[in-house]
Amino acid sequence: MSELTTAIEQLKRDKNAIILAHYYQTGDIQDIADFVGDSLALAQWAAKTDADMIVMCGVHFMGETAKILSPDKKVLVPDLAAGCSLADSCPADKFAQFVKEHPDHTVISYVNTTAAVKAVTDVVVTSTNARQIVESFPKDEKIIFGPDRNLGNYINSVTNRQMLLWNGACHVHEQFSVEKLVDLKKVYPDAVVLAHPECKSVVLKMADFIGSTAALLKYAVNSDKKEFLVATESGILHEMQKKCPDKTFIPVPPNDSTCACNECNFMRLNTMQKLYDCLINESPEIVVDEVIAAKAVKPIQRMLEISAALGL
Ligand code: 13P
Ligand code: SF4
Repeated sequence: MSELTTAIEQLKRDKNAIILAHYYQTGDIQDIADFVGDSLALAQWAAKTDADMIVMCGVHFMGETAKILSPDKKVLVPDLAAGCSLADSCPADKFAQFVKEHPDHTVISYVNTTAAVKAVTDVVVTSTNARQIVESFPKDEKIIFGPDRNLGNYINSVTNRQMLLWNGACHVHEQFSVEKLVDLKKVYPDAVVLAHPECKSVVLKMADFIGSTAALLKYAVNSDKKEFLVATESGILHEMQKKCPDKTFIPVPPNDSTCACNECNFMRLNTMQKLYDCLINESPEIVVDEVIAAKAVKPIQRMLEISAALGL
C-alpha cells in the first residue's frame, strides 16, 4: 500500500468521511473509495450516509447533488474545476426561459445539470432510470427533456414519444468514432458492443446493449460472451476488468485522437494527491445557494422515491 493510500485511509477514519467515486475516476481512486457507482447510486449513497463528510470523487454536479441531499454534511470535491460539458450546455437562465415558453410541459432533467437547472425541473433522472421515469407519465404527457439530446432522442425512440429536447450534449460521448468501431468489429467479430445512451444515434445503432455505466457493467458480468467493445468513458473498464478477469474489454476510440481511450478531462482532474489534500484541508467545499437548493431538492427526491418504488 502506498504512503498516500495509507494517509488517505487514516484521514478518512479520523474525520468520519466517506469517499464516493464515479466509474469514470482513475483506478487508484476507485480502489480507495468506500463506494464506486453510477450517478444514481452516488446520489442514493449521499442521501443515506451517516458520515460527517462526503468526498465526491466525480464532477461538480455530483457534489452539488450530494450537498442538496445532505445539506448538514460537508461535501468536498478534490478539484472544483471538475465540471461537465453537458451541464455547461444548459445555462440555467436560458433553460428557465425555455420552460417558461412551454408552460403546459412537465420538465424532466438529466442529473448532469446545475442546481439552478434542477430548481426549474419537475423530476430529475439519470441514465439508469430515465426510461422508466419517462414511462411513468401518461403517453400524451407533454414533456421537456434536457439537456442531453442523444439520451432524449434515445428515450423518444424506445418509448415512442416526442418529448421536446434541449440541444445539449457531452463532448466525450459525442466523440466516439463509428469508423473505428466498424474497424474494431472486423478485428473482434464476436465482441458485444456496449454503449452509453449519451452516445450519438449512429453509435447506438451499432450497440448490442445500451445502458448507464452500472447497467453496462452488470450486462458484462452476467454475459457468457468473452469480448466487449465499450463505448463510454474508459474509466469503467477498471471495474469491468476487476469483476470479469477472464473477459476482454476494448475501449472504443474517439474521432480526433491517436489514443485508444476516450477519457473525460473533467473527471480526470481528480487525483490521489488532490484527494489527500482535500481531506486534510477540508476544501474545496461544495456550497449551494439555499433558495436554489430548497427548490432543487424536490425533483431529486422525487427521482429517488420513484427509483426506490421501481427497485432501482
Ligand atoms: P451514469 O453515471 O448515469 O452512467 O452517467 C454517466 C455520466 O456521464 C456521468 O457523468
Ligand atoms: Fe460530463 Fe461527459 Fe464528463 Fe460525464 S463524461 S462528466 S457527461 S463531460
